[in-house]
Amino acid sequence: MNPAAPRIELGAGAFHFPGLLDRPAQEALLAGLREAVRVAPLFAPRMPRTGKPFSVRMTNCGALGWVSDAAGGYRYQPTHPDTGAPWPPIPPIALDAWRALSGVDVEPDACLVNFYGAEAKMGLHQDRDEETFAAPVVSLSLGDACRFRIGTDARGGPTRSCRLESGDAFVFGGPARLAFHGVDRIHPGTSTLLREGGRINLTMRRVRAF
Ligand code: SIN
Ligand code: FE2
Repeated sequence: MNPAAPRIELGAGAFHFPGLLDRPAQEALLAGLREAVRVAPLFAPRMPRTGKPFSVRMTNCGALGWVSDAAGGYRYQPTHPDTGAPWPPIPPIALDAWRALSGVDVEPDACLVNFYGAEAKMGLHQDRDEETFAAPVVSLSLGDACRFRIGTDARGGPTRSCRLESGDAFVFGGPARLAFHGVDRIHPGTSTLLREGGRINLTMRRVRAF
C-alpha cells in the first residue's frame, strides 16, 4: 500500500484515494481474486421482482455475500447462490486497505466483487442492506478506469463524479454512508492489469452490528 496516497474529499464523508495500491499490490490482489473466483464463480445477479439481469457479474468473499434474484430480492447470505458453498476469505491486501482506511476497529464481514465488461454500468443506488451503518464502505478498483458518481442520501439530489483508476480506493461513511452512488461508464483499454480488459471493484462492508 502507498502510505503517501493523497486523499481527495468528494463531499462530507466521501473520500477518493488515488493510487492507494501500487502495481505489485494490484497484481497480488488480482491473484487472490482469481483464487476466490475459482471457489466462488462469478454469477449474474437479477433485479428483485422483474428478474432483469444486472450488467455486472458478481461474486463475494467473507462471511456474508450480497446476492439478488427475482424471488428473494437483495440480501446477504453465507453461501454462494449456485454452488451452496461458503464464500472464500477476503484477500489480505483488501483487509489491509480496510484497516488503513475504515477508521473502525472491526473487520468487514462482506466483500462484494463486481466485474464490469466494457459496456457494463451500475445505476445510482444506496448500500443499505446492512444491519449497521456505523462502518463505512471501502471500495477498491482494479483494471480499466470508470466514471464513478456519488451524491447525497436523497434520490435526485446533486452528484459529483470522479475517475477511478486501477489501484484507487474510495471510502464513504458517516454522513455519506447512505449516499447514492453508481458507475456511469467504463473506459475500455485504460489499464493493462486485466489481460482481457474490464474492471473489477471490491466493496467491503460491515453487515452485522458491532
Ligand atoms: C457498488 O456500488 O457496488 C460498486 C461501485 C463501483 O463499482 O465502484
Ligand atoms: Fe454500492
